[in-house]
Amino acid sequence: MQIVIIGSGNVAYHMAKAFTGKGISIAQIFGRNEKELSKISEELKVPYSTGQLKDADLYIICVSDNSVEEVSRSIIKKDVLVAHTSGSLPKEALAGEYRKASFYPLQTFSKSKELEYEKIPFFIETENGEDKKILFELASSISKNVMESNHEKRKYIHLTAVFACNFVNHLFSRAKEISDSQEIPFDYFLPLIEETVQKIHEIEPKMAQTGPAVRNDVRVLQLHEHLLKDESLEIYKTMNHSIQEMYEL
Ligand SMILES: NC(=O)c1ccc[n+]([C@@H]2O[C@H](COP(=O)([O-])OP(=O)(O)OC[C@H]3O[C@@H](n4cnc5c(N)ncnc54)[C@H](OP(=O)(O)O)[C@@H]3O)[C@@H](O)[C@H]2O)c1
Repeated sequence: MQIVIIGSGNVAYHMAKAFTGKGISIAQIFGRNEKELSKISEELKVPYSTGQLKDADLYIICVSDNSVEEVSRSIIKKDVLVAHTSGSLPKEALAGEYRKASFYPLQTFSKSKELEYEKIPFFIETENGEDKKILFELASSISKNVMESNHEKRKYIHLTAVFACNFVNHLFSRAKEISDSQEIPFDYFLPLIEETVQKIHEIEPKMAQTGPAVRNDVRVLQLHEHLLKDESLEIYKTMNHSIQEMYEL
């Protein structure tokens, strides 16, 4: 099967790396960003192009959600399978007469961070059983955790991921701003962060909550509010409000 990956961002890079790492050849990596494409091409020994989209059996579109539809129009062949990797778009966001699919990897991808692909849950949606088999086989070659999911469910999977990953990471960024402002090395907090994540493998997140808000320690909450301003103060108040509402304090 000839596979073309479209895009040169985080997901395109990791998809190409995961497949080539398992000996699955990628016929082409296609996109508009020559600099990034050539870097990926050189590292993974995969041909690239910014001009001529190669004929293939499967196209995996890994571009920003806003551009999926536009980019999908560049595939004019009908007897091909086209999948996107977005968590929130329906497969119908693909604008062509080909067979459409969703191929969503539930992980946070950054080019500079290596990943254990085996552990990544993949959610697949296709138009028919044959395409389901193709994409299940492909995903199963890199991951031990491949599932089917319709768009309705996937929207909520993605939403949960925004809370569990993107928001949490943003709080790390805000936390680092605070520690940087006092010249406290952020490294001090890494064991705490690691334990916070480890703990929820064994205890429900709701049961694992600690800190001044769940203890309703008003004196500490007020002290912290005096140390903060602007956006971080707003986040602090919103988070405490949310914690206290959950525990009915
Ligand atoms: N990153 C994640 O953790 C993650 C996880 C699961 C799913 N996804 C999904 O995977 C897809 C790709 O995400 P990503 O994180 O890889 O994004 P990204 O790193 O920001 O890369 C986006 C890619 O899309 C290209 N692009 C944007 N608009 C384009 C257009 N009009 N024409 C051609 N190429 C265009 C960009 O090219 P330029 O460099 O030229 O802008 C770039 O190669 C998205 O649907 C996203 O929701 C992401």
